[in-house]
Amino acid sequence: MAQSHPNTDTLPTGSLQIEGLHISYGDKPVVKNVDFTAEPGLFHTIIGPNGSGKSTLLKAVTGEIAFTGTVSLNGQDIKTMKPEVLAGRRGVLPQHTVLAFPLTVAEVVNLGILKRTSVGTTLARRNRILEALEMVDLDGFEARSYQALSGGEQQRVQLARVLCQVWEPTSEDGHPRWLFLDEPVSSLDIKHQMQIMEIAANYAKRGGGVLAIMHDLNLTASFADTVLVLQQGSLKALGNVNEVYQDTILTDAYDYPVQVRHIEGRSQPVVLA
Ligand SMILES: Nc1ncnc2c1ncn2[C@@H]1O[C@H](COP(=O)(O)OP(=O)(O)OP(=O)(O)O)[C@@H](O)[C@H]1O
Ligand SMILES: [Mg+2]
Repeated sequence: MAQSHPNTDTLPTGSLQIEGLHISYGDKPVVKNVDFTAEPGLFHTIIGPNGSGKSTLLKAVTGEIAFTGTVSLNGQDIKTMKPEVLAGRRGVLPQHTVLAFPLTVAEVVNLGILKRTSVGTTLARRNRILEALEMVDLDGFEARSYQALSGGEQQRVQLARVLCQVWEPTSEDGHPRWLFLDEPVSSLDIKHQMQIMEIAANYAKRGGGVLAIMHDLNLTASFADTVLVLQQGSLKALGNVNEVYQDTILTDAYDYPVQVRHIEGRSQPVVLA
């Protein structure tokens, strides 16, 4: 098993720390005793088979569901953080989003702009919405009905909403902000997959934190600084791409024969199935 647990004494205050995380639905344990520390400035990923507990883990980290153990952001237990403070520190892209009301694209993106942010004027809000839409390659979509978009377009609108929420990777009081993304590119074509991954990678490069759940192992290899493998709710492996991408680890995790190949001139391994 590849493991890399940084020394917690030397962590910057912006870290995400998960300790002894345990989550059950009724009497069924779904996430079991997971420890994980993630530093801002890096692109962290979680992989693992369907039903292994990835989304459940992320929902605990974002404060959406009950859990035992500790999740702290910037050194503060999220259970003690006021919702508006938490909302200013992290944006969440869920795996599925259902909108109960008919909204335009601009109205959906506007949901991400928090009341207390510095985006005070109507014009400033409008400009941020348009800029976020441009980032996700949806210029000119602002007046369209969200319901009438394709699945991939809707996914990019949701990302624009999240970006509007945590626009600057560092808050006014100096705390890193986090992007928590549950399968952010699952509905996207190859160009938009690359664009969205680049946006997330750039957010991390600018000092923010990124934690993304992924299924595409080759795309993950191209962008991830760390990879956590979840298997039946337990942490199976944790490390950088080369530490985790080994035939035995991935074959065992996915219960399917997977081959990891290293190609000359390419720094990241390629996964064949
Ligand atoms: N609300 C719920 N109530 C009961 N069981 C649930 C609930 N949500 C998820 N589960 C179960 O918990 C387990 C983990 O689900 P989770 O959604 O975390 O998996 P996942 O790793 O995100 O999978 P996928 O790759 O398919 O998105 C699954 O067995 C699932 O059936
Ligand atoms: Mg999921």
